Amino acid sequence: MMTSAEIRQKFLDFFEEKGHQIVPSAPIVVKNDPTLMFTNAGMNQFKDYFLGNKNPPYGRVADTQKCLRVSGKHNDLEEVGVDTYHHTMFEMLGNWSFGDYFKNEAITWSWQLLTDVYNLPKDRLYATVFEGDEKEGIPSSAIALKKWEEFLPKEHIVFGNKKDNFWEMGDTGPCGPCTEIHIDMRSNEERQLVPGQALVNKDHPQVIEIWNNVFIQYNRKKDGTLEDLPSKHVDTGMGFERLVRAIQNKQSNYDTDVFTGTIEAIEKITNIAYRNLQSLELLQRPPMGGRGAIAFRVIADHIRAISFTIADGQLPSNTGAGYVIRRILRRAVRYYYSYLQYKQPLLTQLVPLLAKQFETVFPELIQQQDFVAKVIKEEEEAFLKTLEKGLKRIDDLIQQVTTTKIIDGKSAFELNDTYGFPIDLTQLIATEHNLTVDIDGYNAERKQQQERGRKDAALDTEDWVEFNFQNNSNFVGYKKKVSNTKIAKYRKVISKGKIQYQIVLVETPFYAESGGQIGDIGELIISGKTIIVTNTKKENDLIIHFVDYLPESVGGKVIARFDENRRKEIKRHHTATHLLQAALQQILGKHIAQKGSLNAADNMRFDFSHFAKLTDTELAQVESLVNQKIRENIPVVTKVMNKEEAIQLGAMALFGEKYGDKVRVVIIDPKYSIELCGGTHVAHTGELGMFKIISETAIAAGVRRIEALAGAKAEAYINEQLGILKKVKEQFKNPKDVTAALQNLQDEKTTLQKKLESLEARQLLSIRNELLTKVTTVNGINFIGEIVEVTNPDALKKLANELVTQHFSPLGGGGAVLCANIDGKPYVAITMSETVAKARNLDAAKIIKELIAPIIKGGGGGNATLATAGGQDVSQLQNCITKVKALLVI
Ligand code: SER
Repeated sequence: MMTSAEIRQKFLDFFEEKGHQIVPSAPIVVKNDPTLMFTNAGMNQFKDYFLGNKNPPYGRVADTQKCLRVSGKHNDLEEVGVDTYHHTMFEMLGNWSFGDYFKNEAITWSWQLLTDVYNLPKDRLYATVFEGDEKEGIPSSAIALKKWEEFLPKEHIVFGNKKDNFWEMGDTGPCGPCTEIHIDMRSNEERQLVPGQALVNKDHPQVIEIWNNVFIQYNRKKDGTLEDLPSKHVDTGMGFERLVRAIQNKQSNYDTDVFTGTIEAIEKITNIAYRNLQSLELLQRPPMGGRGAIAFRVIADHIRAISFTIADGQLPSNTGAGYVIRRILRRAVRYYYSYLQYKQPLLTQLVPLLAKQFETVFPELIQQQDFVAKVIKEEEEAFLKTLEKGLKRIDDLIQQVTTTKIIDGKSAFELNDTYGFPIDLTQLIATEHNLTVDIDGYNAERKQQQERGRKDAALDTEDWVEFNFQNNSNFVGYKKKVSNTKIAKYRKVISKGKIQYQIVLVETPFYAESGGQIGDIGELIISGKTIIVTNTKKENDLIIHFVDYLPESVGGKVIARFDENRRKEIKRHHTATHLLQAALQQILGKHIAQKGSLNAADNMRFDFSHFAKLTDTELAQVESLVNQKIRENIPVVTKVMNKEEAIQLGAMALFGEKYGDKVRVVIIDPKYSIELCGGTHVAHTGELGMFKIISETAIAAGVRRIEALAGAKAEAYINEQLGILKKVKEQFKNPKDVTAALQNLQDEKTTLQKKLESLEARQLLSIRNELLTKVTTVNGINFIGEIVEVTNPDALKKLANELVTQHFSPLGGGGAVLCANIDGKPYVAITMSETVAKARNLDAAKIIKELIAPIIKGGGGGNATLATAGGQDVSQLQNCITKVKALLVI
């Protein structure tokens, strides 16, 4: 049997032989595309080639791409694990033609690969062909049909409509008709009863799509219309896990060697056999049964998505892509907790196995194995605690709804939103207790939240208005400060009701935010009018200038000039980041890997993997090494070279970054720091002047953050700190040793505090003795109601308590109300013996809350025998005593 590794390799070899360049997978987390959070198709990284924004370096490429379909247009999350062939993360094998070959070659090669190389049975294969769409004005795919007729009998060719046979990446962007290849994996008996043709694209678990060949020829515009692209392209995507299943002839993707290793590991950890659960699954369907087997599949699937996204630099968090990861992780935890009865972190234990399995295909995981495992473990631990709280919350709800027998929509939504309980789990638990869930109410709450999210993110982007320049977004800002250029295209964007324009220039000196370096600001002079650029960002490979205003005539010359002084500060901070990373590696070790950075004008921060807080000595060593490198005034050299060459030199590449074949390398002494980096830097390290670390903190499991300053900002900071010190010294009348003076002051304070405490104790004793002379009997109860002079509320409480417990108890019980005016604020303490509380049906806390707090305009609390309050109105103290006394009389 062909192994999954062999199957992958044969795909790449086949297309390499057909003249394709094999390229690496792009990161799974998308950085420079506001329309996408994760790579959801192999073609994402080639979007600019299709749109004609950029010239492709090769006419034909092939790869295996890590994809994730859990958000946006393509979202399969709820299916995953419930069925046996959808995944969160999957590998997409793809071959591409950028204006090179088209339908005939693509279809012929698909057929050859599947039937000659992989030997898939021809009589089980089906092809779908686009039937055309009148409304869109697209004809049916005659070429594809003709080609397929050479290989397949008529009854194996199925016509499909726009939904199945017209592929679009999102609401706008490159798209085109497609032809899909499906395989019928049912038994011969079943195939005889119902022909496969009838089950294509009908969600049958054994008749599944394996390969999609898209013929990209249009761009979908914002208004819904299609425009022809300058050239025609091929974009194919084959689901690797499904292909392996077809070749290895398994009933489920999870029975292939892509997943069996992980499934066996879960069996060992939980001591439960997946096979047994699978048999049970056939008998018990969800929601009540079969969930054990689903749990196995959910875990085996989700651990891949979680591990590879973290390895690509996305940490779980509460927003955006990080939140998606967190939700996937929580879904897996919830499944093993509830259905495999496993109550400790499980996912983290699977990381080493997965890392080994993908060592040669996606080495980024094994290189960061400990880090990824640690991040996952902490997430799991935190969520297991939340889950327990959620289960308690459900228990409470169950107690509360014994009469209605309905869990309301709001509570069900809260369970989902706060505790990560999917609605089906809440329903399941409800059913177990003979309750139902108000599902309409739940859906309404959910919709409301989505609406709120949509409003917050509301961004209305119009189509580009283009001036048809071949070249655009040519960045010249490493050397040039000003460009005489033209607008290549622009578009209007309405963000939260505010109109903005985004401009792409033919060439620009503006640096677009990337690699941690913030975007330039500056000005454009268009038709003699000066316009402020408020930010510069990248979208795929386009450099976009943000402006609030656009003059009427935009077709002419443009002068583009960025804010040079601001850029200088940014450059200092960016070079400082490189010096810092190298210093951290020298002082703490080679495991230090960048996990994020910010290089701004005012400051810099650097996030890196490290498991312990840095000691003061380590911080001092790091800072001192950076400053030493600044004093050495080392030239900062940038070179463009082949990626392989750079890696050989020892250049540090970032996980989760997309690099082309040619890379830019920043070298600060080849023995000290070599990094792949597109950012802007000073010419010599001496320009930094000095470097100062401001703080070192933890930002996530295994990730530390250093905030620091360079140049004038560092100088200003140090001067500010020295200024504070000067003031402190002056307060102490400029002693020789200010720390000794401070210590003296503290010692003095401790001595005085002790003295004060002893004086207060004595004072309390004398107040108590005096109070004891004022005991009266109210309605047969020993009672003291007095205004006393104490310095703090605690003393008041203590005094009241002592009176009742020590003096009244031996006398058969009693009560006291003590009031005090402490620094102009009223305080009241009420206490009574248990016997009194019971006999008179009184509750000190209730009296405080309902009677006293309103009188003194404040609040308070306590228990039945001792309660206190504080407030605002100090004139009512005597009134409080009278009111409580009156209660005793009744
Ligand atoms: N873009 C197509 C898909 O994702 C083919 O690669 O299905």
